[in-house]
Amino acid sequence: MTDTLPKAPLDTPFGPGIDRVEGPLKVTGTAPYANEHTARRIGSPTHPLVGFMVLSTIAKGRLVSLDTTAARTSPGVRLVLTRDNAPPQNDWGPLVARDRFARSQPALHDDRIRFFGQPVALVVADTLETARAAAQTISATYEPETPAVTLDEKTAIIPPTLNGFKPTRTSIGDFRNSYAASAAKLDVTYETPHQSHAQMEPHATTALWDANGEHVTLWTSNQILNSAQKGIASTLQLKPEQVRIVGLYVGGGFGGKLPWFDDALLAAIAARMLKCPVRVAMTRQQMFTATTHRTATRQRIRIGAARDGHLRAIAHDALSHCASFDNFVEDTTTITRGLYGADAITTSALLNKLDLPRSDSMRAPGDAVGMIALECGLDEIAHTLGMDPVALRLANDTQTDPTAKRPFSSRKLAECLRTGATRFNWSARNPTPGQHREGEWLIGTGMASAMRYNLVRPSQAEIILSQTGHLTVRMAMTDPGTGTITILARIASEATGIPPDRITVTIGDTDFPPAAGSGGSFGAESAGSALYNACETLRLRLARTATTENGPLANIPLSTLSFSNASLTNGTKTIPLTQLVPRDGLTTQGSIKPGNEAKDWSQASFGAHFAEVAVSAVTGETRVRRMTGVFACGRILNARTARSQAIGGMIWGISAALFEANPVDPRSGQFTARDLANYHVASHADAPHIDATFLPEDEPVSNPLHIKGIGEVGICGAPAAIGNAIFNATGIRIRNFPITPDKLL
Ligand code: MOS
Repeated sequence: MTDTLPKAPLDTPFGPGIDRVEGPLKVTGTAPYANEHTARRIGSPTHPLVGFMVLSTIAKGRLVSLDTTAARTSPGVRLVLTRDNAPPQNDWGPLVARDRFARSQPALHDDRIRFFGQPVALVVADTLETARAAAQTISATYEPETPAVTLDEKTAIIPPTLNGFKPTRTSIGDFRNSYAASAAKLDVTYETPHQSHAQMEPHATTALWDANGEHVTLWTSNQILNSAQKGIASTLQLKPEQVRIVGLYVGGGFGGKLPWFDDALLAAIAARMLKCPVRVAMTRQQMFTATTHRTATRQRIRIGAARDGHLRAIAHDALSHCASFDNFVEDTTTITRGLYGADAITTSALLNKLDLPRSDSMRAPGDAVGMIALECGLDEIAHTLGMDPVALRLANDTQTDPTAKRPFSSRKLAECLRTGATRFNWSARNPTPGQHREGEWLIGTGMASAMRYNLVRPSQAEIILSQTGHLTVRMAMTDPGTGTITILARIASEATGIPPDRITVTIGDTDFPPAAGSGGSFGAESAGSALYNACETLRLRLARTATTENGPLANIPLSTLSFSNASLTNGTKTIPLTQLVPRDGLTTQGSIKPGNEAKDWSQASFGAHFAEVAVSAVTGETRVRRMTGVFACGRILNARTARSQAIGGMIWGISAALFEANPVDPRSGQFTARDLANYHVASHADAPHIDATFLPEDEPVSNPLHIKGIGEVGICGAPAAIGNAIFNATGIRIRNFPITPDKLL
């Protein structure tokens, strides 16, 4: 029989969770963000110069000329960068790429204007004020063309794939006949608007080249540093190893920092030309056009159900758009393929290429808006059938992914629905709309399911145990405020038995082993599993050292050993790890990549949302009074930060249901909101008491940590629960989100 070391434990009791390791640095303002790097911090003899971007004021056409005379001669201005003096860059692309954030994205590259608010110049000066004042003196002459900026089925194309790898159409069963034979039928169209990113920290980069102008370091705010490294290198015709990206503290991402943007590229170009560090930060207003946004969608949803609530047919056909020069598809119908066990399910996608800024991921891309159509549609069918919406969902629960035709690795949708209904006191609800009134307020309740597919991305980790017993974790991972640093410290501590105060997690640097980064709810499991595997290797090395012939635990079987309190023990003999580490320390690596478990199983996080709203019969204003969210996402690494992710998603659900929209002016092609006064996101006053919990769940296959993504499931379904509550309150079904007061009067 082989003697093997037991696997690292995964069941340390964790109570209410732990605070963020870097929390004190953040709340005291001592954690430096990308726009706060001083000369000393970046190791430069001179303070960074400051670049300010000039943006186009048309949406489509040709940039004929730029008058930069006044700017160039302004005191304190060091450089005015335009297409006339920008260095050669690779063309945009490739259009289809597995990693679309590693593509070449040139700026100031040609004379084409592709969207309103496209950077056309960068002014670099000694101070921000000087650069901004000089930027305002630049005038542009354009040959404008009429932009196409509205969704239109007639001009839409069928994209060959969804973002390079998923099928555009899926179909099981016989939709036409199943739908025709259904006792209850729904055929409606839901619309969702453009949504703008509004992370607390705008995009910013500080760039510094080495003395030879061969290697650049970019301190920036980004979710996937290794993709940014490849993309910027490709654009500037450099090798990836010539570009180092550093981004330890990231003030929010939510998909808006999955791509890198012109702040990084233009800072790098200007710093090279000036032989001096340069930083470029976007203003809040610039973020609304010079970054990405969530696409508007138009979704036709057809549902057919038998009288007992059995779903016979679902068809979900979604129209979305991307920039004229891109091919991003909002993957709106993904959840429809897997949430309910209907006899027939078809999904399809159409795409408009529009003269708008790039659309790309925002929190739960696809699902956050796709589940509005699906889950409000379910509510409509429940109402038609006279059936309770929770019961309808329970009746169509399935342990097999209906279109992928493979089992879910774990799926506690039913438990989430039942637990949520109990916690919310759902049974007290009057199913007839418009019956509950308190003065001017109409009160109603609604619910929706939550689902988000789970994925692991390739990641590597390196750990170093020093002779003094200190463990250092190194990986090019990011923490956009989600608590990643904290859970990585916890994983390392749990796996090695080294107390957290003797562990340093160093991430946010492409000089470290490449990591998945943060996005798509894959960060914790990808980076965490790589780290766990590095810890397993370390444990084995230490255990083997201890049990060699001359070792302190000679002749003791590996199978009896465990790690705790910075020691290795078999219960009777305990050896401090420091006795097992060579003088120059012990370094091990770990990695993870998707394996057969990703092919053999469907993996997803599930949940249920319940909301109570009050709608004013006088003003049409909707107030969300309370929300309950119950989620099942495998093992939870840190209850405290997990709850923060859940309530963040649910509050964003309020935002999406009631407020968030950025309409485009069809004449000029510009977004009408460019600041947080006009782009309304839910504030504290809009967020009621939120009851968010995670059910215990055994996830057998997802990854060595037995966890599933938790970042995005909180927003999935949340807007629909609120829309459904508004219907219960008022009897008015709004299918055009957000549900603003004008639509309810
Ligand atoms: Mo994710 S789209 O990076 O919130």
